Amino acid sequence: MKVLIVGSGGREHAIAWSVAKSPKVDKIYCAPGNAGIAEYAECVDIGAMEFEKLAAFAKEKEIDLTIVGMDDPLVGGIVDVFEAEGLRVFGPRKNAAILEGSKAFSKDLMKKYDIPTAAYENFDDPEKALEYLRTEAKFPIVLKADGLALGKGVLICQDLAEAEAGVKEIMEDKKFGNAGNTMVIEEFMTGREVSVLSFVDGKTIRTMTSAQDHKRAKDGDQGLNTGGMGTFSPSPFYTPEVDEFCKKYIYQKTVDAMASEGRPFKGIIFFGLMLTADGPKVLEYNARFGDPEAQVVLPRMENDIIEVMEACVDGNLDQIDLKFEDNAAVCVVLASDGYPVKYEKGIPIQGFENFKDKDGYYCFHAGTKFKDGQIVTNGGRVLGITAKGKTLKEARKNAYAATEWISFANKYMRHDIGKAIDEA
Ligand SMILES: Nc1ncnc2c1ncn2[C@@H]1O[C@H](COP(=O)(O)OP(=O)(O)O)[C@@H](O)[C@H]1O
Ligand SMILES: [Mg+2]
Repeated sequence: MKVLIVGSGGREHAIAWSVAKSPKVDKIYCAPGNAGIAEYAECVDIGAMEFEKLAAFAKEKEIDLTIVGMDDPLVGGIVDVFEAEGLRVFGPRKNAAILEGSKAFSKDLMKKYDIPTAAYENFDDPEKALEYLRTEAKFPIVLKADGLALGKGVLICQDLAEAEAGVKEIMEDKKFGNAGNTMVIEEFMTGREVSVLSFVDGKTIRTMTSAQDHKRAKDGDQGLNTGGMGTFSPSPFYTPEVDEFCKKYIYQKTVDAMASEGRPFKGIIFFGLMLTADGPKVLEYNARFGDPEAQVVLPRMENDIIEVMEACVDGNLDQIDLKFEDNAAVCVVLASDGYPVKYEKGIPIQGFENFKDKDGYYCFHAGTKFKDGQIVTNGGRVLGITAKGKTLKEARKNAYAATEWISFANKYMRHDIGKAIDEA
């Protein structure tokens, strides 16, 4: 098979690594890719949003399966463009990717089908939102821009003044562009956050092992929100009881709800869950692998990823038994100092050779590129260092040891990834 992967981050590197293990695959392309992905794939200089160019490339190269890693192209309808050209593609169509693309849609879906989530109201008029905040709201309260906002469109407001400023930012100043045309105002929940990824074929869902991420830039969950500074898998807080609850009230119900709405979902559903005192509730859905959740989940998956993805495309997922290793993985992101605000790029990176032939250790590239025959930094999040271990503690120790194998001048990381493990 010839496979095309669309995307360029650590998640796509983990997908490319996984695809490269498949005995079915003999050629991988990645658009646009990065310096790490280039080890398994021929990187092609086409942007993830250039659907027509990508489809033309897939036709020309006779690609057998295209895998879309990122949210923007999925929400933008890349799958529909490929399907219209008769190309096989893994991912939800536009009318299903809306599960991630519109928070107002996903909240209404959960309400209609009685899937546990925070109480909320949707607003497309800032005046009405303000009136609600002044008369009915309890604080703290959560404001969410409806559309994709690079993980920055959620504001937790402690009082009315903050919430009023939030409405202005999202709906009037349009800080997140059209993503703020509609806004969700939602009850504030407390509890631990856990992520569960799943494969879906339109009818059947197979959940993967659980994971937890660390979004803030600094130790102790301080500092600004980032794309994610590290992850671990499994989550010790995702107990068999939680799993049973979610299987009964969340996972299959979501898939059935989408099918009932005439929006059958094929691809990955990422369930962002909060484990509240009243039981697990859905924080949000994503329509693709998390980044860096993929970097801890995929290395533990025993199945051939191509077999599973083809089963999703063909609607045979019920034939697949998903299996994960009985171990743990931790991913520590190596970032450029100053991320997510201001940081230098183009700095040479040393030490990749230390990962050669080291079983259970992975160096996934996020923001890297080749410059004069050398690999240099090319983004805020540069690398994701993943290590496995028999237990989470061992995986964490291994991952931090491996972070020392890599050096670049402005290397920055958190030192408490997976620390929650100690409290479990
Ligand atoms: N109702 C809520 N109560 C408490 N915290 C919330 C709530 N909704 C979101 N959050 C916090 O904000 C983060 C981002 O919200 P989320 O809905 O996942 O949006 P996105 O990932 O698109 O930015 C969550 O991971 C969680 O920490
Ligand atoms: Mg989220």
